[in-house]
Amino acid sequence: MTAPAWWKNGVCYQIYPRSFADSNGDGIGDLRGILEKLDYLQWLGVNVLWISPFYPSPQFDWGYDVSDYTDIDPDYGTLADFDQLIQEAHQRGMRILLDLVLNHTSDLHVWFQQSRSSRDNPYRDWYIWQDGVNGGPPNDWESLFGGSAWQFDEQTGQYYYHYFFAEQPDLNWRNPEVKEAMFNVSRFWLDRGVDGFRLDALDTIYEDPNLRNSQIDTSLEDLFIDFRLGLADPELSALRQKIRYQHDLPEMHDLMKELRSLVDQYENRVLLGELEQPSYYGNGADELHSVFNFSLIGAMHAPRLRKVLTERLSELPQGAWECNTMSNHDRPRSFTYFSDGAQNKSRARLALALIMFLQGTPVIYYGEEIGMQDFYPQSVEQFRDQLGTWMYNALRTRRGISHTDAFEIAANKVCRDCCRTPMQWENAPNAGFSPLGIDTWLPINPDYKAGINVEEQRGNPDSMLMFLRQLVQIRQTYPAIRLGSMEILHNEGGILAFWRKTSEQSCLILLNMSAAQEEFTQNNDNLRTIFNTGRFTQGDKVGINLTLQPYEIFIAESTR
Ligand code: GLC
Ligand code: CA
Repeated sequence: MTAPAWWKNGVCYQIYPRSFADSNGDGIGDLRGILEKLDYLQWLGVNVLWISPFYPSPQFDWGYDVSDYTDIDPDYGTLADFDQLIQEAHQRGMRILLDLVLNHTSDLHVWFQQSRSSRDNPYRDWYIWQDGVNGGPPNDWESLFGGSAWQFDEQTGQYYYHYFFAEQPDLNWRNPEVKEAMFNVSRFWLDRGVDGFRLDALDTIYEDPNLRNSQIDTSLEDLFIDFRLGLADPELSALRQKIRYQHDLPEMHDLMKELRSLVDQYENRVLLGELEQPSYYGNGADELHSVFNFSLIGAMHAPRLRKVLTERLSELPQGAWECNTMSNHDRPRSFTYFSDGAQNKSRARLALALIMFLQGTPVIYYGEEIGMQDFYPQSVEQFRDQLGTWMYNALRTRRGISHTDAFEIAANKVCRDCCRTPMQWENAPNAGFSPLGIDTWLPINPDYKAGINVEEQRGNPDSMLMFLRQLVQIRQTYPAIRLGSMEILHNEGGILAFWRKTSEQSCLILLNMSAAQEEFTQNNDNLRTIFNTGRFTQGDKVGINLTLQPYEIFIAESTR
């Protein structure tokens, strides 16, 4: 079976639980906070919630370092809270996806604690241990986050492998016990009623069993720095080459098939992978239901999008169902990323319109609906994201960059704190996230006082919030826009134009992605406006030639 109907019809909303809603006033978001906001989410029209990890964790990587896969971190609540959340979400017709971190655990997970304790511990082979070679690490593999991927462990005199931080040792997925344990984790949550998983850092699960050297001298760290600084080639070919024995191994596809059959034993569950390779759809029905079409983010110009989308569509097997997104907890907020200083709001709206109307399931990142912006830390000491601290140090030591510049770059381009600040609920102390006087876990962007908050936008028909809500409603009203095929029009110029069609309905989407006025000619003389940010209102008939203002959005139905 391909993706279930609820997933295709869905509008997904990513909740970063630490920052979404704080029910007990300790400055940290929690599950009961989410529960209290379900009515709001329902009002907004989203019907799938992807919740970033809330399992017990030492929070070295804010939950992406799990120390117990079948419980809730006390910061966020209890399993009883979770059960209530699932139940109340389901009552509202909403689905819940959990974030499953399969590649690695926290170094404080009891499995790793056991594993590192002695060479003959039964958990030894649950992680990847190797002897050193010539007084150094086993091979030339590196960690994405700096230095050798092999960490020497005094206690047993061997090295363990970690693709991310040393605090996140990779599990040994070639050990059947590991696979069984993680499959049991999946069953634990599926039995509890979750509707599926977003699978974290998926393609790093397997490494080359022969430990072949990458034989590439440039360090992964440098390639990653260039990538984060926007200096790498967009295809990241050097970086991909460097990690060719550490990621995306062919074995992944058999594993995904196994996981898919596990999930298919339950009714109507979904697997969404944090990767973009279409190969992970398998034959369209036997691996993941969805992967992210991340390439959209870097392609926000009509000519580039026409190319990217056309290529992408040609690579997808029948049954593939894309996930379209503009931001998440690892990236700049879309409002900031697309801002040009002049037409920020229109550009942010255009980006949201794109993911709402392309074929696939849109994924909105919490706060995106009110146009939340990146809010940068003020000093290195303030960084809560280790990636920021790491990058600052790397720029200082590897690149010899001055303190001021290294801080600037790390804070503005790498540290992920900026996109994780607390949700702005109202124009009240702490933006209504936590009570007055509480220090929230990350500082709150003061722009909540300037209208960037839910409560004030709810009462304002011109707000970002009401705009997005309207797009969600359009999507829910027109089956062609949710489920229809997609036909890209190969017009010239700055307007991205495409049809969404079912056998009963045809909708034309025009997005002027340029800062200039653009002309569009079409030969259908039976178009009626569904939505327009310009002069047409719903129901207006439009003519053959249309002029669209910069960033104008126009949606129409063909009534023939
Ligand atoms: C994924 C997560 C990211 C995390 C990394 C390591 O990319 O999205 O936040 O740091 O995996 O778990
Ligand atoms: Ca709390």
